[in-house]
Amino acid sequence: MTTADNEHRDYIPLYDEYDYDIDEVAGALPEDLRGTLYRNGPGKLDAGGQQLGHLFDGDGMLSMFSITDGKVRYRNRFVRTKHYRKSLTSTGAPYRALGTMRPGGILANALQFPANVANTGVVMHAGKLLALWEGGPPTEIDPDTLDTIGVHRFGGALKWLGAFSAHPKWDKATGDMYNFGLAMVPKPSLACYRVDRTGKLGKIGQVSLPRPMFNHDFGLTPRHLVFVVAPLVFPIGKMLGAGLGLRNYIEAIEYDAARGTMIALMPRYGGKPRIVHTDPLMHLHVSNAYEDRTDTVVELVNYHATWEQLNGQLQGVQGGLADTAMPYGGTLLRLRITRSGRVIQEHLSDMQGDFPTFNLGYTSRQNRYTYLAVGLDGSAHPNAIAKVDNVSGVQQAHRLPADHFAHEAIYTPRPGATDEDDGWLLVATQDRPRALAHLRVLDAKNIENDPCYVGALRHHLPLSFHGNFTPRAA
Ligand SMILES: [Fe+2]
Repeated sequence: MTTADNEHRDYIPLYDEYDYDIDEVAGALPEDLRGTLYRNGPGKLDAGGQQLGHLFDGDGMLSMFSITDGKVRYRNRFVRTKHYRKSLTSTGAPYRALGTMRPGGILANALQFPANVANTGVVMHAGKLLALWEGGPPTEIDPDTLDTIGVHRFGGALKWLGAFSAHPKWDKATGDMYNFGLAMVPKPSLACYRVDRTGKLGKIGQVSLPRPMFNHDFGLTPRHLVFVVAPLVFPIGKMLGAGLGLRNYIEAIEYDAARGTMIALMPRYGGKPRIVHTDPLMHLHVSNAYEDRTDTVVELVNYHATWEQLNGQLQGVQGGLADTAMPYGGTLLRLRITRSGRVIQEHLSDMQGDFPTFNLGYTSRQNRYTYLAVGLDGSAHPNAIAKVDNVSGVQQAHRLPADHFAHEAIYTPRPGATDEDDGWLLVATQDRPRALAHLRVLDAKNIENDPCYVGALRHHLPLSFHGNFTPRAA
């Protein structure tokens, strides 16, 4: 592929697996920054020679930036899922995926669940590194080599068809990890789980959905798991058509504004969820949730585009996001749910972005600063990292060099820090025309300053979804 071909493409596959010290560096790593940044995302958007139909379908590829002794070592490995292994020798896609049909028409696609491509998130819990995908169980990964260990069902506690979503949340005091799984059978629901600090999974309960719906994320307060369920529904006819192999699963989703948005507050220790309704929202990602006296507060990135536009942007990835007319992202919105069940909206930003992150030490209590990958000047791809002050409303941005794009920014505190923003943002970025990636380390307190450190990778990095930082150095 030539440089000209690469220009403005965000999703160039990375087939090769690397392991090397980053030696082309500008600036220096902060002395007390030590640990490992893991990231996950679709590393290739083809399988068995067939172009896949949706960004969500690409095989999960993990990146590991191991930071020790003032140096960064980079390694990437594809997750050896059944889909990935078979795709190396199959003719066409070996399995159905959310937005891809396998060759062979209806017979080859009927009654087939989408393949688990383990491509959405990666977390470390109870000493295990888990690659997450929201339609199925996690895949356990060796945290040092990134070798695939295998599907992880928490010792059988996560049942067959049990899904474990890609956005778990942690209780800092107990070390418990909370999560949910979207279930379609026997009835549509959000199954809620707690995984204790030893890795033992228990079911808390479930939130019944009025019909098959799509939900990607949730918030955790001291008392509740908070679900904000946008009206993204699978109409029965379309769902049946998808199940019978007549259409894609992703195309079976419809935005039904008339239903509004359903908010469910599921008690952390079980019981009946409290349900309230509000105006129809269009979001995927929740930032933080907390309690403010008797109110429950949840913050999320609300899109002003339609589901069709957003999904079209995700489907059109082969050409790169810049080829669509839609500006990137949505805006930060706070929902305040009062004791009487009123839902009050407060707009926190007007910069458009997604992938909200914050100092995870503030999970379940009010965080002042939220970080986003944003598209400045109406850009269709994220060209900056924003820091939104949720108290004063001040918005600052670290603008990348022209024609670079940003992956999600992960915050990590300086050891011993007391200020919420005394730490760093670790962000992978891509020089689009040159198709080369970098790791940038930003001072979160002074986000507009030049990066403390820029390390050049020896290749590009296809846009990844989510990551996590752990102080354990791989
Ligand atoms: Fe996500």
